[in-house]
Amino acid sequence: MVELSDYVGREQSYVKHVFLELYLERLVYKVASNYSHVVYVDGFAGPWQSANEQFEDTSFGIALSALRRAKASWKALGRDVRMSAFLVERHSEAYEKLAEVPARYPDVEVKTYPAEFVSVLPEILRDIPATAFTFFLIDPTGWRIRLAALAPMLSRLKSEVIFNFIFEFINRAASIKDVAAELDELIPFGNWRPALEAATTPEERKAILIEAFAANLSHIGKYTYVAETTILRPVRDRPLYCLFYATRHQTGIEEFRNCQVKALKEQSRTRAKTKVRHAQAKTGQTEFFQSLHEMGPDDLTAFLDTEQDEAEKTLLILTPVEPDAIHYEELWPMVLARNAVKKTDVNQIAARLRKEGRLVFPDWEKGKRIPQPHYRVQRPGVQLPRERQS
Ligand SMILES: C[S@@+](CC[C@H](N)C(=O)[O-])C[C@H]1O[C@@H](n2cnc3c(N)ncnc32)[C@H](O)[C@@H]1O
Repeated sequence: MVELSDYVGREQSYVKHVFLELYLERLVYKVASNYSHVVYVDGFAGPWQSANEQFEDTSFGIALSALRRAKASWKALGRDVRMSAFLVERHSEAYEKLAEVPARYPDVEVKTYPAEFVSVLPEILRDIPATAFTFFLIDPTGWRIRLAALAPMLSRLKSEVIFNFIFEFINRAASIKDVAAELDELIPFGNWRPALEAATTPEERKAILIEAFAANLSHIGKYTYVAETTILRPVRDRPLYCLFYATRHQTGIEEFRNCQVKALKEQSRTRAKTKVRHAQAKTGQTEFFQSLHEMGPDDLTAFLDTEQDEAEKTLLILTPVEPDAIHYEELWPMVLARNAVKKTDVNQIAARLRKEGRLVFPDWEKGKRIPQPHYRVQRPGVQLPRERQS
């Protein structure tokens, strides 16, 4: 379990690891129900700023525990699942520590590489059997990465990817002419530059960069769903990095949003505590800042409420006008890919829109409270009176 006490002064890493732990715990277990071999690849493994002797505050420590637990749970049910991890670290001092890791996990096949990730990627990809499902984590310290060099990894079938996009640095770099070529290598496709130059607010700039990078991941890796969650600076109200998630599976996007909402709540709690601690350290006053924190506006609630409103709009926009129709099982994942809402939220919104006559479900069965996967969904050509929907 990740513990906040291991992350003093780097609370942003705590939030990243809370998300990673939730995501890997759920998805490794689920994937192992269908695949007899699950692989985790950490291209920029560290350990980096780790304060825990068991490496419980590192991405590979979290991943190896998830692999171990999933393997044991399936074993108890009579199912044998092979678990492997490929961990890469370029820095020699960090690598010395990483090299201790395989001996601690005899139940997982762990291979470590003292190398630059892109240079060993072909070897790693050759070593992963085509039948294995692979989780890739790309969590560099900087942003100078040629996305095209990662193409063989991004396009590997039976895989999904978490990519840490160092937003704060990238956003700054995007205004510096000298590094334009390097940034173009990170975001090689799309006409995002002119849009970024025309942007007038920080929010617009962020939206443009996020959309551009998501489109690149999706294009290069042929991913059906790419979503993002933002990690803020611990004290200042500014985005620090964006975790991108790319998957070809509905379950993946469903779990991503579940984990995101939990991690955002934890981020909100952690930042509130960290801000109070900083203010107290600066002034020596305790009670005053404690009460300010309790009265403060809840930015996360406002954000999640907006996402609910946006999800409603997305649901309506993506639904064709009758007589055309879309199946609900195709519709809800597309909403989740665009908005930070859970599947249960979309179910509720869809059921309400039906009651309000703004969506039509010709296959809705009596007694059902939420849409079923096989239901067709349509937007009425003309607004329906409420009675027709009862
Ligand atoms: C941000 S840290 C990784 C943190 C780790 N993922 C975690 O969450 O605990 C990035 C690590 O990648 C290493 N690194 C940087 N460039 C690299 C490269 N090209 N190939 C492999 N490792 C690299 C750094 O030495 C550092 O330990």
